[in-house]
Amino acid sequence: MQKAGPIGVFDSGYGGLTVLKEIITQLPEYDYIYLGDNARSPYGNRSFETVYHYTLECVQWFFEQGCSLVILACNTASAKALRTIQQNDLPVIAPAKRVLGVIRPTAEIIGHFSETKSVGILATNGTVSSNSYPMEIAKFFPGLKVYQEACPLWVPLIECDEYKSHGADYFVKKNLHQLFEKGEDIDVILLGCTHFPLLKDKIEEYVPVGVKIISQGEIVAQSLADYLKRHPEIESCCSKKGQRLFFTTDSTEDFDNHATIFYGEMVRSDHVDLEAIKPAL
Ligand code: DGL
Repeated sequence: MQKAGPIGVFDSGYGGLTVLKEIITQLPEYDYIYLGDNARSPYGNRSFETVYHYTLECVQWFFEQGCSLVILACNTASAKALRTIQQNDLPVIAPAKRVLGVIRPTAEIIGHFSETKSVGILATNGTVSSNSYPMEIAKFFPGLKVYQEACPLWVPLIECDEYKSHGADYFVKKNLHQLFEKGEDIDVILLGCTHFPLLKDKIEEYVPVGVKIISQGEIVAQSLADYLKRHPEIESCCSKKGQRLFFTTDSTEDFDNHATIFYGEMVRSDHVDLEAIKPAL
């Protein structure tokens, strides 16, 4: 039996903190360890190979910290790396550990929010080009129309603190216009990138009245709560002292200064040098 350890929560940068915040609200008793790969973010425009390689390296780091369960709180990593890690890597490097993503839990329920049966997905280039959302949603809601719009500049705008600026309005308007040109009866928009909740106020200004905007935090948190109930063998490997630890692959000062806007509280991070991690394969 494995020693109990924290639940790992991963993102390319800060976006996963919007998910961690909701997970902690629903499941406060567990220990959590967050890693932002800020030194190599954004992942959104990178190739499958690169996102997979970076994500696997970070997952191995979580395992070295004693995590038995890791949540990829990043749509891009979930879209481009999760399946390969689950199917090819885990059986070899850590058969008793689990890595979960954010796309499937979202796909499982998104159709329930729409009356017109027409949903828009806003995400990074990587997530959109992987086609993961249309494929996953089709399994649960076969008749649902799914329209995607890649918003490659939104993550840089957010990470550079420009998400409240007039410059951000230009790109939000442009991408929403393009989305509604594809599907004019869309009545639900999924923010399919964990950074995007920071732009929610701006998005609301430019969508037709009555369109619902859905962030993933609560959905992922609820799905994790259900998962832990259904998998006591994993749940018993998750320690429960209410600890939260934060790590970044880049400057801790930058991380701490930015993290508050995503997490809603002050954060004190430590630096991780991924170069120091020996590849397990
Ligand atoms: N937060 C990540 C997501 O949910 C994307 C950020 C990035 O491009 O690195 O897709």
